Amino acid sequence: MNQHVTTPLVELEDISIAFGGIRAVDGASIDLYPGEVVGLLGHNGAGKSTLIKILSGAYKRDSGDIRIDGQSATINNPRDAKGYGIETIYQTLAVADNVDAAANLFLGRELTTAIGTLDDVAMEHKAREVMGRLNPNFRRFKEPVKALSGGQRQSVAIARAILFNARILIMDEPTAALGPQETTQVGDLIKQLKSEGIGIFLISHDIHDVFDLADRVCVMKNGQVVGTAKTSDVTKDEVLGMIILGKCPPGATPGPGAMKE
Ligand SMILES: Nc1ncnc2c1ncn2[C@@H]1O[C@H](COP(=O)(O)OP(=O)(O)OP(=O)(O)O)[C@@H](O)[C@H]1O
Ligand SMILES: [Mg+2]
Repeated sequence: MNQHVTTPLVELEDISIAFGGIRAVDGASIDLYPGEVVGLLGHNGAGKSTLIKILSGAYKRDSGDIRIDGQSATINNPRDAKGYGIETIYQTLAVADNVDAAANLFLGRELTTAIGTLDDVAMEHKAREVMGRLNPNFRRFKEPVKALSGGQRQSVAIARAILFNARILIMDEPTAALGPQETTQVGDLIKQLKSEGIGIFLISHDIHDVFDLADRVCVMKNGQVVGTAKTSDVTKDEVLGMIILGKCPPGATPGPGAMKE
């Protein structure tokens, strides 16, 4: 039963990849709708990062299909993924410490003037616009990013990701390096992006964060999906049971990794 009326932004179907003998991802299927946050949970080594690296083009899958907006998508490298509006934010914030927010936003994709020089005015203007949308209180446009707090740095990384019209955002442990206040700030950013219709895969070890932010949760174990559920249909204890035992509760749709009764 599908309660959604729109076409999914992303459909990953029966995705597998092995490294040597290890089936890092084994027949995993999951989808993502516009304006939806799907939390990916599971123990270390469950295959979460590997699965989303297939979507972001960092790894090439051995088998399985990827559809974007219902259409079969060819994603063999990060450039392909970006072409579909897929952007990734990793735990290790990929920001350049010694330059300011505007420079970070346009790193490697600088705007130039008609005569080919860097268009600093246009870049700062655009940086203020995007950062203003995400984090209206941000004022430190002229300072090197290393002077910013973890939460502010994360908002620069997110602004960089959405600047070029990302529609699908992958966040792999975005708050792992942050304190509680900064984690709240990133949560607010996620809510903002959601309200703009961006779909987000959120990988986190913090089940409380996931319950606060995700519309649905998907639990992986040993490369397989244990189950997927609307967050409102399962309890935290049930989700812990999925993570630890692979036990799929009644409120979840079981995947191939669900423990057989
Ligand atoms: N490049 C690689 N080469 C070999 N094995 C890999 C590679 N990347 C991942 N693996 C293996 O694939 C499995 C899944 O790893 P993955 O990083 O996807 O787990 P994860 O769920 O993201 O875990 P964590 O919560 O620790 O980040 C693990 O057994 C890991 O050792
Ligand atoms: Mg990981």
